[in-house]
Amino acid sequence: MKTIFYITGGSRGIGKALVESALKTNNYFVYGISREQSVEHERYKHVALDLSNTNTLNELELPFDAEANKVVLINNAGMLGKVSPFGRQDNESIIKTHTINAIAPAVLSNWIIKKYSDTATQIVILNVSSGAARYPVAGWGNYCSSKASVDMLSKVIALEKSNGKVKVFAVAPGIVDTQMQTEIRQASPSDFSDLQRFKDYKKNGQLSDAQEVAESLMQIVNHPEKHQDTLLDVRKL
Ligand SMILES: NC(=O)c1ccc[n+]([C@@H]2O[C@H](COP(=O)([O-])OP(=O)(O)OC[C@H]3O[C@@H](n4cnc5c(N)ncnc54)[C@H](OP(=O)(O)O)[C@@H]3O)[C@@H](O)[C@H]2O)c1
Repeated sequence: MKTIFYITGGSRGIGKALVESALKTNNYFVYGISREQSVEHERYKHVALDLSNTNTLNELELPFDAEANKVVLINNAGMLGKVSPFGRQDNESIIKTHTINAIAPAVLSNWIIKKYSDTATQIVILNVSSGAARYPVAGWGNYCSSKASVDMLSKVIALEKSNGKVKVFAVAPGIVDTQMQTEIRQASPSDFSDLQRFKDYKKNGQLSDAQEVAESLMQIVNHPEKHQDTLLDVRKL
């Protein structure tokens, strides 16, 4: 069974671990979509795109494979944006964070559902969400609201596509040891009241490993029928 993966943000962190996890299976083929390329493999093709560029998203076209039995879109690329309370935010960060975290997943979801609608191909969309989509964090307004948008996008698609051809999930991955956590720990204490808590997670070895998180996410896309809920959390699977 030929399965095609479209994985955004596959150049590092959780996304790279997802790409490497998918490539362990012989009939899995991966398109990695990010600015940088860090994976070389005979079943990997890189699509160099800046997902913060709305012109790029407006004209989005990705390789289509009519022979695929299953296609998996993993909207993983994301950014934290400027950590600061509103009133001290900047417009560039507001626009960029929402574009990568919320608009790009919507555009890519629309593309894959449209492109494969007249085929027998099964479609699985996994949006990498965040706990911060589901509770407010002071200083993370752009991040929380853009991730909440992805949760709602997923719920709407699940409502529209209840016939089984399309399965969609928004999954919070937990607190994972990646560059994003490094950025969180570099925030200014005057902008981020929770800073010490995140420094303690690292100090106390409480961050999850990206490979382990990727394996849990792969279990969801490999067995979507096992999950009835759209909003999931890796820590509660
Ligand atoms: N780490 C955590 O604790 C945590 C917790 C909850 C949710 N998440 C979510 O998990 C996902 C992955 O995060 P991570 O921790 O692995 O972050 P990361 O290490 O910072 O990786 C982010 C990925 O997104 C890509 N990306 C960023 N800006 C991009 C752009 N303009 N165009 C295309 N790709 C872009 C990067 O690729 P390039 O730089 O090559 O473009 C990179 O591959 C994100 O959606 C994040 O919100 C992470």
